[in-house]
Amino acid sequence: MSEQTVSPLAFPEPPLSDGVIMLRPWRREEDGVRYEAFTDPVIVETSWPWSEPPTPEKIASAFDRHERDRLAGHELNLAITDPDDAVLGSMCLYNLDRDHATASIGYWLTRAARGHGYATRALRLLGGWAMAELGLARLQLTCDPRNEASQRVAERCGFVREGLLRSQYAWKDGRRDTLVFSVLPGELV
Ligand SMILES: CC(C)(COP(=O)(O)OP(=O)(O)OC[C@H]1O[C@@H](n2cnc3c(N)ncnc32)[C@H](O)[C@@H]1OP(=O)(O)O)[C@@H](O)C(=O)NCCC(=O)NCCS
Repeated sequence: MSEQTVSPLAFPEPPLSDGVIMLRPWRREEDGVRYEAFTDPVIVETSWPWSEPPTPEKIASAFDRHERDRLAGHELNLAITDPDDAVLGSMCLYNLDRDHATASIGYWLTRAARGHGYATRALRLLGGWAMAELGLARLQLTCDPRNEASQRVAERCGFVREGLLRSQYAWKDGRRDTLVFSVLPGELV
């Protein structure tokens, strides 16, 4: 293990694409698009742990937080778009730890974009890039045990279900258990 030096995490260039979806940096002027996504109760339920509801100001400050974490070298938050650059959702690599070669990954899709396999495509793209380019030894994904759609996406990409962490997160409606999945090199499909 070596001393960690802080270096910004560069956005993949050219942007990752499989011909159906693309992953590119979020833009400041898309704060409204992200706020709109967070008016969906499903996203608030699964991806917003705080008691206070999302507001445009909180969404704007989340953009700043993501950029700060990218510059600190441990996060990459990307928009999932269609070939015409319309936003379908979001895919985020976070908690990158270069000493241990580990990171976590998470995602959401706008309501209209669900049910087309876009999250699966995006997870393969960013997961594959992270394993190869960052030399990860382990990529982790966590989700609520009730979130069947997210578990299906993880399993379709080859993530292995490792177990249930009890009372892992402080959530607005009380503490939540979380399921833990991971892929190791060569396991992503
Ligand atoms: C999780 C999410 C990204 C999956 O999006 P998706 O790619 O459109 O996924 P699909 O709608 O195609 O569903 C994936 C699978 O789950 C199944 N599924 C979807 N909703 C389900 C539900 N409520 N109950 C059970 N199964 C469900 C689908 O039938 C599909 O199964 P298949 O693999 O056999 O085809 C999307 O549902 C979402 O944005 N949810 C809100 C945010 C979120 O949960 N993020 C993840 C936090 S861990």
